[in-house]
Amino acid sequence: DPLPLLFQPLSIRGVEFKNRIWVAPMCMYSSDNGHATDFHLVHIGSMALRGAGAIILEATAVLPAGRIAPEDAGLWTDSQIAPLRRIVEFCHAHGTKVGIQLAHAGRKASTYAPWIQDKRDARVGGGRSVAGVVENGWPDEVVGPSEIPHDTGYAYPNPLNQKGIDQVVEAFAAATERCKQVGFDFIEIHGAHGYLLHSFCSPLSNDRDDDYGGSLENRLRFPLAIARRVRAVWGDKPLFYRVSATDWAEGPEKEEKTGEWLQWGIDQSTVLARRLHEEAGMDLIDVSTGGLWKNARIAVFPGYQVPFAAHIKKAVPGLLTGAVGHINSGKQAESYLKEGSADVVLVARELLRNVDLPLEAAQELGVAVKPASQYEMGWVGMMGRR
Ligand code: FNR
Repeated sequence: DPLPLLFQPLSIRGVEFKNRIWVAPMCMYSSDNGHATDFHLVHIGSMALRGAGAIILEATAVLPAGRIAPEDAGLWTDSQIAPLRRIVEFCHAHGTKVGIQLAHAGRKASTYAPWIQDKRDARVGGGRSVAGVVENGWPDEVVGPSEIPHDTGYAYPNPLNQKGIDQVVEAFAAATERCKQVGFDFIEIHGAHGYLLHSFCSPLSNDRDDDYGGSLENRLRFPLAIARRVRAVWGDKPLFYRVSATDWAEGPEKEEKTGEWLQWGIDQSTVLARRLHEEAGMDLIDVSTGGLWKNARIAVFPGYQVPFAAHIKKAVPGLLTGAVGHINSGKQAESYLKEGSADVVLVARELLRNVDLPLEAAQELGVAVKPASQYEMGWVGMMGRR
């Protein structure tokens, strides 16, 4: 039998990924003023020992005000390089590629970490709210495209002016330079889930009337500028972009003046994907959805986001796609690769429940894992497969 697609290696710009089951980025709210800690070494290290082809480190803010919560990861200053390098060296010693998701939370910044929110809810009776200054938050420095808050309980964003936009672009560039010093194999730009880049793309959060708002062309200007700048600094190494392919918003409405469809959906995100590929040499689009529109109604089922990855893959030849969302088994993952919807599969929550999922997927698909780590001996070992 030929090797299942999930366990066929993938080469991107000379970087060899040993398989196509990857760890999706997951915020851990466990950083020390943006610095990775021993928690991250053990958490990421445990995944590096258990078969994933690549690990994408959590959303990591390029500026302090771009953190979702005060406990979030950052790469805005040089002292944040060393603790990340320790993690990367550990992953490399165990044959696992590792990259980082560079992010700016935009108008969804300065909130509580989930467990702090829970404690607060118990105390004051529910409702999300911004972390104030005494809780190390920065409610007055939250930025966005327009003065439209994400939802009740979120900060009022200060619309970025041209200078602020340029500062964010340069912060992405500086963080990319630090990524080179860390030794990451790849970078993923976080363009999804209602955070800063996505909020410029969507007319539901962006009602600017300058060069960065209105037409689709204008709304894509800022994310494209970031992507081109990151590519210029990063050079000939793998670069990915996570997109929310739709806001799941009711609509569409038509803008009377311009005739533009006022929505962010698969057609608009496909235009973005094509331009990222053509103008920034984007290698892979990691296709998620949602996170921007508070009233979104989403029918969630296994693989519910896969059709969006398939659509972009078909529409933009040469651009790889990643599928994510409720993909919890080897056979399920393999089916999406087989039908040609995606080139890699990313898993988040199931790996928190079961860090051995990649090894179990190998077992499920009848692949003999060559032991690359002490733990993988348990799966092939001296006794043959169990
Ligand atoms: C996430 N997710 C996420 N996405 C992202 O782009 N950057 C991030 O930092 C995070 N953080 C995060 C933390 C935690 C605890 C969870 C559970 C999720 C979303 C994640 O990458 C993934 O897209 C979704 O969880 C859907 O995949 P699963 O969980 O169904 O495999």
